[in-house]
Amino acid sequence: MKKGTVFVCQNCGFRSPKWLGRCSQCGQWNTMVEELEEEFAGEVLESGGEPVLYQDIKETTNQRIPVGIDQFNNVLGGGLVLGSVVLIGGEPGIGKSTLLLQVSRDLASEDRPVLYVSGEESLEQIKLRGDRLGLSREKVYLLAETALEKILNAADRMKPRALVIDSVQTIFSSQLTSSPGTISQVREVTNRVFRLAKRNQIPVFLIGHITKEGSLAGPKSLEHMVDVVLLFEGERDHHHRVLRVLKNRFGPVSELAIFEMGQSGLKPIDNPSAFFLRERPKNEPGSVVISTIKGSRPLLVEIQALVSSTLFSGNPRRMSIGLDHYRVSMLLALVEKKVGYSFAGEDIYLNVAGGLEVDEPAADLGVVLSVISSIKNLPLPREMAVFGEVGLSGEIRSVSQPLARVKEARSLGFETVLMPAGNLPQLQGEDLKGIRCLGLDSVRRALAQVF
Ligand code: TYD
Ligand code: MG
Repeated sequence: MKKGTVFVCQNCGFRSPKWLGRCSQCGQWNTMVEELEEEFAGEVLESGGEPVLYQDIKETTNQRIPVGIDQFNNVLGGGLVLGSVVLIGGEPGIGKSTLLLQVSRDLASEDRPVLYVSGEESLEQIKLRGDRLGLSREKVYLLAETALEKILNAADRMKPRALVIDSVQTIFSSQLTSSPGTISQVREVTNRVFRLAKRNQIPVFLIGHITKEGSLAGPKSLEHMVDVVLLFEGERDHHHRVLRVLKNRFGPVSELAIFEMGQSGLKPIDNPSAFFLRERPKNEPGSVVISTIKGSRPLLVEIQALVSSTLFSGNPRRMSIGLDHYRVSMLLALVEKKVGYSFAGEDIYLNVAGGLEVDEPAADLGVVLSVISSIKNLPLPREMAVFGEVGLSGEIRSVSQPLARVKEARSLGFETVLMPAGNLPQLQGEDLKGIRCLGLDSVRRALAQVF
């Protein structure tokens, strides 16, 4: 093994033979840390170097196994893919260990146990948690260990149905001298676990702590090494948790699941739309409910706008949380030009309630209406939901999946939907009793309809 020292950026993993005050790859200051350089003791890949003719490649469908919680399956894109490595990040105390112990309980079967490795807690501590979750006779094996080689050995022998590693920052390989949690260790651990997963077709969950800056385990470089990256986040009111997808090689990335932390673990919430609208004020100017698509399913969320005269004349504030800033600026310019309002003396704040991100153009109409509702100080009619993209001439353009959006609104008790006229033909012949669909082709007409 060739040894020497190398300086590794703790932010992006860039390697340099000499110290740098500023990383020349990511531009961060004071991130270069000296580490022992070692050639990765790489195993030779099993399917060795022979090129294969395209037409000879056999089709494989990814084999999936269902985890116990439907919503979690959904987030994974329809179940857990055999041999996949799933990284779950979150702040300490959010419930990562709880979630994965529950998943272990549900996955373990008589002939295929689950191996749960903890580098953070003792077996007794894990058992205390397991007791709360009602774990008893399920075949869940626990291993309190931080040495990577021992963990890999155990997993190789046991061939578990799934492997959980809690957390990637506490495990270290004896082949590297740097301490656990450094970028080189975390990458080495991920790398070796990845090979184990593929070799034995064992799905692996890697738990990762999130740093204050909000990046997964500091090293961004981990995210491209795994198949799936999930983020487990808290909601304002402490009991709610949102599991969302940042990356998925086997499914869509905008799926999310919502859980409630209770006395005996995490319980999935079946109706996310109702959850996100639960604190919606009635008859409040500036509040608009939009029907948006998250992943494969529709979701109703509330957009709130506050327009108030500015104290910063010449430089009024524009703030938006959960919406694309550039898109909002564009829509505001459009309202000024096409509808004739002047925002020069107004601060404008926009927010998506519940801390969600809405990044589809179908939210445009909701943004425009919420801003105008706030300026006019007039609420939208009760029980009205909206969706539609707004073009630069003030036209309302059609969007994808109108039927799913309308049906979601109806199921939550909405009586009217404002939507693009161009989407109406797609609703023809559908049974939409109980909800009125108003098709519109311009922002001006929408305003006449609403106010
Ligand atoms: P934990 O899974 O240990 O979080 P993480 O692994 O992300 O650090 O969960 C921590 C919190 O969850 C802790 O404050 C206790 C709480 N909790 C419950 O409220 N109910 C439960 O059934 C369990 C197991 C934990
Ligand atoms: Mg934990």
